Amino acid sequence: MPDPKENLQMEKIVSLCKRRGFIFQSSEIYGGINGFWDYGPLGAELKRNVKELWWHAMTRQRDDVAGLEATIIMSPQIWKASGHVDTFADLMRECPLTKKRVRADQVEPQSGMVYIFAGALKRPKEDSYEGYYKFIPDALERWAKRAGRNLNLMTREEFADELFEVMLRNKGLQSESQIREHAEIWARGLWDKLEIKSFRVLVPFGKPRETAIKLAKQFYASKEWPFPLPIEMRDPEKIKDTTDFHPETGVELVDSLGKREPEKVENTIDFHPESNVELSEARPFNLMFKTFVGPIESEDNVAYLRPETAQAIFAQFKNVLETSRQKVPFGIAQVGKAFRNEVTPRNFTFRSREFEQMELEFFIKPDEVIEAISGSVASAADVSSRVCENADNPRSDEARLPQPNWGWEAWHKYWVEERVRFYEGIGLSRETLGFHHQTPAELAHYARACTDILFKFPFSKKDADGNVAGDELEGIAARSDFDLSQHARFSGKPMGVFDDELRQAWAKLPKEKQDDLWKRYHDNRKNYLLKSGVEAEPAQKQATDDANGLAKGQYIPHVIEPSAGVDRLILALIANAYTEVTKTDDKGKSETTVVMKFHPRVAPVKAGVMPLLKNKPELVKKALAVRDLLRPWMNVFYDEAGSIGRRYARQDEAGTPFCVTIDFDTLGEKPELLDTVTIRYRDDGRQERLRISELLDFLLSKIR
Ligand code: GAP
Repeated sequence: MPDPKENLQMEKIVSLCKRRGFIFQSSEIYGGINGFWDYGPLGAELKRNVKELWWHAMTRQRDDVAGLEATIIMSPQIWKASGHVDTFADLMRECPLTKKRVRADQVEPQSGMVYIFAGALKRPKEDSYEGYYKFIPDALERWAKRAGRNLNLMTREEFADELFEVMLRNKGLQSESQIREHAEIWARGLWDKLEIKSFRVLVPFGKPRETAIKLAKQFYASKEWPFPLPIEMRDPEKIKDTTDFHPETGVELVDSLGKREPEKVENTIDFHPESNVELSEARPFNLMFKTFVGPIESEDNVAYLRPETAQAIFAQFKNVLETSRQKVPFGIAQVGKAFRNEVTPRNFTFRSREFEQMELEFFIKPDEVIEAISGSVASAADVSSRVCENADNPRSDEARLPQPNWGWEAWHKYWVEERVRFYEGIGLSRETLGFHHQTPAELAHYARACTDILFKFPFSKKDADGNVAGDELEGIAARSDFDLSQHARFSGKPMGVFDDELRQAWAKLPKEKQDDLWKRYHDNRKNYLLKSGVEAEPAQKQATDDANGLAKGQYIPHVIEPSAGVDRLILALIANAYTEVTKTDDKGKSETTVVMKFHPRVAPVKAGVMPLLKNKPELVKKALAVRDLLRPWMNVFYDEAGSIGRRYARQDEAGTPFCVTIDFDTLGEKPELLDTVTIRYRDDGRQERLRISELLDFLLSKIR
């Protein structure tokens, strides 16, 4: 669990975001809307910079990536083909009292006392049977133990028998036949009032038992059982094994006035974190936001807000290929909004319901095609030694150039490394990042590998050794040819490419090699088709046709997908930049201020421009001229209000890396300093003098 210090750090970050206009709660004046966030003036600039930098690095700086900007609402067929309609679901558990849902894999472990109720008596206000309630729990327990069955299955006759046995043990002066008679009467009278419906509630340590009884009463009252008297059980079963709870086996029931022995549990995830009520079984819940296109709200007009930007890229693959004159390997990049009806949005913007993604689908040749053309496929180790770098082992641009013999493993490694370089380039050092290599059990069935790049957020949890791995910033998946194949099947449009190099290389291969590659390609295709639900015979035929296509230079490209979240990156940059600086003056008075140490490339404002004094028109005029000189090139902020120290502090909090001050020397008070300004560095407060004529180049060299 994140420790309280880290929670405090998040609180400070959230508060700064609001105070300085980075991030606001959406619809705040109406109490907000959970999972939606607005970016204020500084946040909007920061976000714009991040998206621009990504776009620049992924498309304009490369010859092998083209851009796309697709619509948010697309044909629902796209989401059928991608599997989102059928499988884009989280397993959910519901609180039976409040109906609130939580993601099954995200319930935080809780500890406390578990009170178990078997059901309730629906009492009238005045109740002649009240004196006999105390026998009911024992009677129920006897039956459950003896019959070993769900209490719901008990009959009235069985209830009377058990009641008789319990009353016999407490018989006092009555004869056995009198007790039998009474048991019959009471069983008849109580039977209609008895409702068996299990209910369990976790009460934090230190809170009284009445908390549980109150919740149980609410629960049974919500079933429209008048004046419910919850029947509370003693010696409940072990909580760790009770995810699938049934009110049977070995329970001891007492009336709600008797002494209780609730169970002590540690780290359970079976209770709703807010209401404390035991959660229902996990059930799937689709995360796509549904809407209707056109005026009629019918099933035929259902459409979805896209849950990822990737699918539009696959759907437009052929159009982009043909119009951009790219050849595999090449990529298509897109930045845009995505929507997921997350059940538990949390950690500020980390898990939102509306967010932005920056996704690249990089199309590569299948390994069999690489082998046919290049003779072999580069090993993963080969590629690591070319592209993986660190401070002691930097790689030149040339050394990192992709090679023709790279198969999916090489491309996957390459993109992980490229993405880490990107993060380093905007101020997230390798030490702040982590990696999670998905295990075979975690991988989507079509994926061959997925590496998550993590950032160590203040809320990230520590492992048993006290190390913080981090939380996902970006996933880089090797998605095989699944997506294009799915869209080919669902749309009926071919998604394969023609590659003359393959055709020519294939013709020159020895027969055994052709057979070997043919078989491997065929088996992979058949595997995919069978897993996607295609019947054995058509799958066999299709796989054979696909493998025969190799000789004609045809194949379906595979994909490596680096998929990053804009909002998570913004949060990482903010958390990374947040620095508290405490200064003590000559009189021993300390003041703590916040300095947002953004990398100049992402900083919302690049330079603060300020005249030393606002009541000196010559200074103001010169400062405005400097502002106008810089403005076409970068976001600058002109500030003349308050002392220069206060103005610097304001810019520090906004994360402005440089302040440019126009003073009397700028105007030529010292002739040798005419037309120079002071540059003040945010991170160490250093100041130096620079010619105005050199200012633009200086700043551009820092922010690009
Ligand atoms: N096309 C693949 C894909 O969408 P994903 O892991 O579901 O994969 C990719 O999402 C990235 O999108 C994540 O690494 C994360 O940065 C971001 N993301 C996903 N869900 C998000 C959410 N609810 N709120 C904010 N960002 C989210």
